[in-house]
Amino acid sequence: MTQFEFDGEKYKQASKHQKEWGRKLISELDLQGDEEILDLGCGDGALTEHIAMLVPKGRVVGIDASEGMIQTAQKLQQPNLSFHRADIHDIAYENQFHVVFSNAALHWIKNHKRLLENTLKALKVGGRTAWNFASKGTCVNFHETVKTVMDLPAYKEFFVGFEWPWYMPDKEEYVSLIETIGFSRWEVRYALPSRRTLCTQPHRAYAPWQCLCRPAVVALGQKTTGALVASH
Ligand SMILES: C[S@@+](CC[C@H](N)C(=O)[O-])C[C@H]1O[C@@H](n2cnc3c(N)ncnc32)[C@H](O)[C@@H]1O
Repeated sequence: MTQFEFDGEKYKQASKHQKEWGRKLISELDLQGDEEILDLGCGDGALTEHIAMLVPKGRVVGIDASEGMIQTAQKLQQPNLSFHRADIHDIAYENQFHVVFSNAALHWIKNHKRLLENTLKALKVGGRTAWNFASKGTCVNFHETVKTVMDLPAYKEFFVGFEWPWYMPDKEEYVSLIETIGFSRWEVRYALPSRRTLCTQPHRAYAPWQCLCRPAVVALGQKTTGALVASH
């Protein structure tokens, strides 16, 4: 299970961008209304619920490793919608879904070979995946800031043994990986006009509870806010 916990209620209030990207991806699915769909890293469940409304004769399952996120998601009630606390690393579905969807979550998964293999198994024949996750270059200024802070004498000790938590490949790397898995067709593309747009304002501090801050916040403990704000 992921080592990071998130506050689903706060995320619900502060995930306008994620919801926009997710809704765009959902609109491209051209759903017929009877599909069975798995949402990996469903977070607060808002997008999962949106999908469920588009497939009234189907069913939608959202999974997330964070207790806080799942608690928020489970407040959403639709007859064809369910949420489970589960780690994406451990999915073991076989031939169950027409679509495996994910938005703004899979950069938390380091082993995409295993993820893609497990996803292929989870799909019914003719099934599809549609994923949007961070690629190389996403929030590059933010990451550089975090790395700078991690290396400062005052904070270095907190990051001994710290494992960088994200996998953000470039397009070529991901194409090379997906070619080895066995999907009959695929397309890998950059979904946003600029992968740098969100995190290029150096005057903006990031709230310690936000998803991208959690790994450093956990490592820093009490020193959190000072460190993250100080370096901006
Ligand atoms: C930025 S949120 C995205 C939530 C939602 N998909 C959306 O677009 O609003 C990323 C989510 O991925 C989840 N996550 C990260 N690693 C995970 C893992 N190994 N297994 C399951 N969920 C994971 C986090 O708990 C978090 O809820």
